[in-house]
Amino acid sequence: MRRPKITVVGAGNVGATTAHWCASLELGDIYLLDIPAAGDMPKGKALDLKQSSPIMGFDSNIVGTADYADTADSDVIVVTAGIPRKPGMSRDDLLATNAKIISSVAENIKATSPNAIVIVVSNPLDAMVQQMKKVTGFPASRVVGQAGVLDTARYRTFIAMELGCSVEDVSALLMGGHGDTMVPMPSCTSVGGIPISRLMEKEKLDPIVDRARNGGAEIVGLLGDSSAYYAPAAACAQMVEAIVKDKKRVIPCAAYCDTEYGVGGYYVGVPVILGDGGVEKVIEIDLEEQEALDFQKSVDAVKKLVADMEGVLVGS
Ligand code: LAC
Repeated sequence: MRRPKITVVGAGNVGATTAHWCASLELGDIYLLDIPAAGDMPKGKALDLKQSSPIMGFDSNIVGTADYADTADSDVIVVTAGIPRKPGMSRDDLLATNAKIISSVAENIKATSPNAIVIVVSNPLDAMVQQMKKVTGFPASRVVGQAGVLDTARYRTFIAMELGCSVEDVSALLMGGHGDTMVPMPSCTSVGGIPISRLMEKEKLDPIVDRARNGGAEIVGLLGDSSAYYAPAAACAQMVEAIVKDKKRVIPCAAYCDTEYGVGGYYVGVPVILGDGGVEKVIEIDLEEQEALDFQKSVDAVKKLVADMEGVLVGS
């Protein structure tokens, strides 16, 4: 029986760690693609990871390559290519460089894996995933962005730290763009089924919400020369698993919203059902008044980002 073919484009920290989680979860055959200026870095990382498998006890084929032909007919492709943030940079500062990189990756994916489901991770996320859909011409269900799983994981982690409880029991939702305007949703946050409002005062929760919103910058500041990768990569692996095992997970992703939430044709973080059809459904819920205002602000920020990207691409 054919195993799922999973390609990770970009063998930097996020890409290599995504390959690591996917391989150790035995999600399929992993192809790690990068085009280094010199040397065989993706092959080296793939072989090193493969050699960890007898110790850790997983059976996964892991192939490193610089040639898209090797990745042909992938089922799922995770795109991590692009430059990461350095201290002092916002995700949006990456716009011009990464928009060009994503356009070229998208052309290659379209030519070699026309039926793949594509998960974009590169920043600024909401614009990069829009560009991926535009260049591949794939249906919206097959192009999705990773952001909400990561942002929600940060939020869940901070809540568990505050309450001294298991992270597994914290369930939460976060919507909007993957930027400073993202919208944590206390009304959709619970711990072991108990609404967060019954466990924590608003004064305690507000700083947690803020910390989650700035969670990426906090890691950039601590690492000094890179952005986060363990949690972003784990988030990718969870999305790949939802797709290859057709789990129909209900998770927040950057999904294409047209009539949904009245967004009008942009990618924003919303709860979706993720299965082997990709984004099988965008779940629409009634937002509370403040949530709706915050969501609209976030959508406006995404629209501006996409307009800026289009300006940059026309000007280049
Ligand atoms: C972060 C980057 C990967 O949020 O966007 O850490």
